[in-house]
Amino acid sequence: MTESVRTFRHVVRVMDTDEEFTCGEDEFILDAMIHARTGPVRHGCCGGGCGICRMKVERGSIFAAKRMSREHISPTDLEDGIVLLCCVQPRGEVLLARV
Ligand code: FES
Repeated sequence: MTESVRTFRHVVRVMDTDEEFTCGEDEFILDAMIHARTGPVRHGCCGGGCGICRMKVERGSIFAAKRMSREHISPTDLEDGIVLLCCVQPRGEVLLARV
């Protein structure tokens, strides 16, 4: 018998669009976005190396579970809330903006 583990799911919205989906705390936001098939999803390597999934976290809390390439995310980007969606998981409701 398999035991299912329930994790918190959080609402993720994309600014200036109708895009809205939920994402588990143990799930990468890009994966949830692809699964929800919401809007045009830009993705490439899904491993933090290509930089295609860059977006800005306008509001909310995220956790960087994978290392993001410095080539695509500088310390200044991080200060500004710019992240790679394939590397981060939500820790509350999140509002994203395209960059
Ligand atoms: S898809 Fe390549 S860095 Fe996120």
